[in-house]
Amino acid sequence: MKRREFINWVGVGVLASSLPIAIAACRTTAESTADAPTRDDGFTEIGSVADLDSQAVLTHDDVQGIPVAVMRDPATSEGLLAVNTLCPHRACVVEWDSGSSLFSCPCHDSKFEANGDLVDGPASNGLERLDATIEEDTVLVRF
Ligand code: FES
Repeated sequence: MKRREFINWVGVGVLASSLPIAIAACRTTAESTADAPTRDDGFTEIGSVADLDSQAVLTHDDVQGIPVAVMRDPATSEGLLAVNTLCPHRACVVEWDSGSSLFSCPCHDSKFEANGDLVDGPASNGLERLDATIEEDTVLVRF
């Protein structure tokens, strides 16, 4: 076997053996970002109350194409805060920082309160607020 044939043979073998892993990785990503179904009243289920309470912040990557975050309102025992987590500066997805109790943008470091109010730019507006409610054991959001 010539050297070039051997390298091609090994290359095909490596590709074939890694293909199932690549397919599994793509499938996992697709499921975790799947569009959440929206009801006739406009609300979309994004998770359970148990998940909200265990994680403190419940997020979903794709509610009508938009990433969202929901948390309990610290000002009221029953209320919820829900925001569109696309940064109004250049549309990076902001992340909740439990240490500072602020949403922080990984792109240019804008900061936002839990209710979406702007704390620090370069963003010039706060995060879009959404309606959120709980029905039985399900957390729902609506634009
Ligand atoms: S995209 Fe968020 S601060 Fe620029």
